[in-house]
Amino acid sequence: MSKLQKILAGIVAVCALFFGFVVVRLGAAPNDDSVKLAKISHENYAHVGKEAYKEAYPLEYNSYMKNNQGGESPTGYGGSDPGKSYIEMQPEIKENFKGYKFSVQYDVARGHTWAGVDQLNSQRIPPQKGNCIVCKGSWMYDKWYKESGWDFASLPFAEATPPYTNKDTVEGTDLYMGCSSCHDPDTMELRVYQQGFVESMALKGIDISKASHNEMRGYVCGQCHNEYYFMAEDGRVRHPFIGGWEPEEQFQQDQPKAEFQPKLRKKA
Ligand code: HEC
Ligand code: HEC
Repeated sequence: MSKLQKILAGIVAVCALFFGFVVVRLGAAPNDDSVKLAKISHENYAHVGKEAYKEAYPLEYNSYMKNNQGGESPTGYGGSDPGKSYIEMQPEIKENFKGYKFSVQYDVARGHTWAGVDQLNSQRIPPQKGNCIVCKGSWMYDKWYKESGWDFASLPFAEATPPYTNKDTVEGTDLYMGCSSCHDPDTMELRVYQQGFVESMALKGIDISKASHNEMRGYVCGQCHNEYYFMAEDGRVRHPFIGGWEPEEQFQQDQPKAEFQPKLRKKA
């Protein structure tokens, strides 16, 4: 063998060894799941909350519960302190949003674990209907939608809301925004429970059930963090992006909707 042939043979041998190892490694451990799937209790809808996941997924549970911590967030935005009012910071909101719930109470958002406490103590509740719970966790889907479709959307708020033991604490509002808001409780795969989002995406020709893993990472957040309105017929949730992705197109889409007609403008 010439020197060149020896070098080539060496390279081929190294490659064969390397890729051989990769193939054997993948074959031996095709799916290296560091997370072990646990059975989550469905008793009294525990799977809608957070406590039912505590023992099975301590790392994720404890990390999620960090949302409870008060104080400024290190990012300089938000944080989980209660009652930081945009209306106090910008009094013109009272006039600009007259006839619209943002003129009644409009506080800085805080961590997800507070969603129940903040909604149940909101001055905006009367005379809201059940559709208000749609973005406060998967009760809307795991209880209501599976039982009777969108019927809950027209119920009075107090009848539609998930049960709670203390409306002032995170523990007392366990069945609000829990792990099932983003995970299928049985497989822990990412899921979108919010049927208004699923329906609106379908109207745009996008089938959520066919979404890639990477798209799901966005959709789980987008199902709630989204502009929306309630349909006049049955109160179901719809999203203006069915009119288009551009702000101007969404504005057109919103024109006939009552929620976007502040009293101030009507008077003129
Ligand atoms: C079930 C609906 C829902 C889903 C799903 C959801 N959010 Fe939220 N999010 C909320 C609500 C409601 C609040 C406000 C809670 C409050 O102020 O009590 C909020 C608040 C926030 C805040 C403000 C926190 C702060 O301290 O200022 C951030 C940031 C945020 N969400 C990001 C995300 C991201 C990222 C995802 C996806 C991984 C996500 N959200 C998924 C409903 C949702
Ligand atoms: C706001 C949405 C949201 C909530 C609420 C949420 N998760 Fe997740 N979770 C995610 C996302 C997004 C990922 C990353 C998934 C991915 O990239 O495939 C994830 C990943 C995980 C993983 C997999 C981690 C890994 O290493 O593969 C586990 C387990 C998990 N979450 C458990 C929980 C538990 C338990 C709760 C409730 C205490 C919870 N999650 C609440 C969005 C959420």
